[in-house]
Amino acid sequence: MTGSSNKLNVHALLWQDEQLHVLDQRQLPEAVFYDVYTEAVDIAEAIRSMRVRGAPAIGIAAAYAVALSVKKNFKQNDASWKDKFDAEIKVLAASRPTAVNLFWALTEMQNKLADIEGDPIEAMLDYAADIHQQDIAANKAMGELGAEVLADAKGLLTHCNAGALATGGYGTALGVIRSAVAKMPRNVFAGETRPWLQGARLTVWELAEDDIAATLIADSAAAMLMKSGQIDWIIVGADRIAANGDVANKIGTYSLAVLAKHHGVKLMVVAPTTTIDFAMQEGSQIEIEQRAASEFLPDCYADENSLVDAWNPVFDVTPAELISVIVTERGVVFNPVETGMSELKND
Ligand code: MRU
Repeated sequence: MTGSSNKLNVHALLWQDEQLHVLDQRQLPEAVFYDVYTEAVDIAEAIRSMRVRGAPAIGIAAAYAVALSVKKNFKQNDASWKDKFDAEIKVLAASRPTAVNLFWALTEMQNKLADIEGDPIEAMLDYAADIHQQDIAANKAMGELGAEVLADAKGLLTHCNAGALATGGYGTALGVIRSAVAKMPRNVFAGETRPWLQGARLTVWELAEDDIAATLIADSAAAMLMKSGQIDWIIVGADRIAANGDVANKIGTYSLAVLAKHHGVKLMVVAPTTTIDFAMQEGSQIEIEQRAASEFLPDCYADENSLVDAWNPVFDVTPAELISVIVTERGVVFNPVETGMSELKND
């Protein structure tokens, strides 16, 4: 892995000269720095260590990682290349548990490989790039569909980062916000999103890079904001959507959904169909990533004899009954608890 510090607008992932350039999101907004990867296991580490985040971006990074693994291992012309490849797939699959796009991309790339006769390298590299481009196209389509649903709503609140940084480009929730703001001025609010501060460090930075004004709020100000009547819609992305429409997304989304119901604010979830996991009947089956207490526990409590610990689930599940609309590139599902998700299935 090498690095470069030239600014390249808002792109989480760039594929250049058969290398994956990954914007190190841990350094934003202070520094724009790209790490350059050629090894699948190093990309797995970039996912695990949160250099690249957001469900679609993780999936796309994994797709490129699979292609790079094929390139390296197939070239060695060794009968056991497939075993080495399978071992790298396992490392990628273990990088983070909640976003289904990772597992979708690994399966998609493995299925593609199984269909190829002869040298698979070029076709696999091309297929990873296709997955990347398809994600951007899906985001643009969702942007238009979501903006139509918003009509002339003025006040929008988003949570975490579901923008260009979390996807192949343009964004899911932020894609809708981009498209909506292009049609008319809106007041955009972003929750800071503790503990990793994706809202404060990524979302408002990304919006400002696109000349979209935004107001940051502490997560704990959300109820007050809703009560003040300044927002009509909450717009979020998703890490995994179950077959019944329950949505796993960044911790705090469920709290916002409950508050929204109380205050008569509507909740829009925006995600490509690659985020829907029809194998999960309901949200309670989704594995929720738990991260280290040290992410927000003051150091003075780190001692093993300390009576103070921290509980740090980094996603939660919002039940479908609290969701007004799910926007995908294949269409919009209003009131998912009544409508169901089956129309979005690709059989
Ligand atoms: O822990 P992260 O930063 O990977 O979590 C990101 C989110 O939860 C996003 O809201 C979600 O992946 C949707 S991204 C379009």
